[in-house]
Amino acid sequence: MNVLLIGSGGREDAVARKIVEKDNLYSVITNENPSIIDLSQEYIKYNENNFNEIIKFSNENKIDIAFVSPDEILNTDLVNILRENHIPVASPSKKAAMIETSKEYMRYIMDKYKIKGNIENKIINNYDSLNKFFNGNDGEYAIKPIGLTGGKGVKVMGLQLKNREEAIDYAKTIINKDGKVLIEKRETGEEFSIQAFSDGKNIVYMPVAQDYKRLYEGDNGPNTGGMGSITDKNLSLPFLSDKTVEDAKKILNDIITSMRKEDNEFKGVIYGQFMATENGVKVIEINSRLADPEGINVLTLLKSNIVDIFLDIYSGTLKNNIKFENKSTVLKYIVPPGYGMEPVETELRIKDNIENNNFKLYYASVSGELTKIKTTKSRSLALIGIADSIYEASDIVESNLKNITGNYYIRHDIGTRNMIENKIKL
Ligand code: GLY
Repeated sequence: MNVLLIGSGGREDAVARKIVEKDNLYSVITNENPSIIDLSQEYIKYNENNFNEIIKFSNENKIDIAFVSPDEILNTDLVNILRENHIPVASPSKKAAMIETSKEYMRYIMDKYKIKGNIENKIINNYDSLNKFFNGNDGEYAIKPIGLTGGKGVKVMGLQLKNREEAIDYAKTIINKDGKVLIEKRETGEEFSIQAFSDGKNIVYMPVAQDYKRLYEGDNGPNTGGMGSITDKNLSLPFLSDKTVEDAKKILNDIITSMRKEDNEFKGVIYGQFMATENGVKVIEINSRLADPEGINVLTLLKSNIVDIFLDIYSGTLKNNIKFENKSTVLKYIVPPGYGMEPVETELRIKDNIENNNFKLYYASVSGELTKIKTTKSRSLALIGIADSIYEASDIVESNLKNITGNYYIRHDIGTRNMIENKIKL
């Protein structure tokens, strides 16, 4: 099969590695990712103003199936244009991707179909209503832009927002920019991610993961795109009950079913960011793609052929026979110095051939050669350990750091015994 992959971050490197296990990779890249370039038969640069070039590239290379991966690109007309040109795609249309690109749409679907896990929320589009809302409500709230923010636009009272005044000011900034803002009741609890493949009717879940969004150790500092992530060997997490996981899976299934009823069939990967609270599972957000970094953990464990899954998504014949290895994984992202604040582009050297059965290294927003990369201001290298326990997987990442030299930042605490035991005690 000839497979077209659009996107070139760490998550897409993981997709690319799975594709080339059996099939031919053709890529459309947004940065000169040395791993994806190395794996590709041919590649072109992404140009959002020239989708005809992607169609031409697909036709010339007789593409059998395409996978459009990043959120920003799912928010364009590309999937629709590929479909119009009879190129099979295993990704959601722009309208279906609204489950991520419009938090207003996501809450609308959950409200309308009475899907469990919804959070009390309100859309506000003017200062008057905003002031009235805060005068009439005492609680703590999360202030969210409606659209995409790369994981960095949500601010929560008691975390990034010190008091009501700061919350109101931030909400006003969003109204000024976007015309409206989403205000949600603040929930507290343990967050976790569940990703699933769906062909619009059938859904197949991937292992449960947890993402560490905060910049600093001990889960402090500003939110980032994600500093690392874990999965555990029983494909759930040691601090979540079976009921919590089952409830979250049902929510994803209900969303797929409801979107179908709305004549907005979702084909591709759907990913729920959930929170286990005292009052049950709550939906923090729903995304229309693989998570980054959590998508890398689960793809590293995927035993089934990803291209068969893509073809089944496209043709509506997804089967519940997708297999994952029963192993724990810990991923830690190497990022440029100052990442999340004032990042500085830098160079890193990587020793040759450092991968083995228990350790993988994925290339993210970087360019250069496999052993000598130039970073951008975004995440650079995803290091992942694979073992029989989360702690061992974390140690595997740490012991491989000696093979990477240069100036970088990494959160060492992800997946350590101390961190996981503290969560189990909660
Ligand atoms: N794990 C964060 C994200 O993919 O949005």
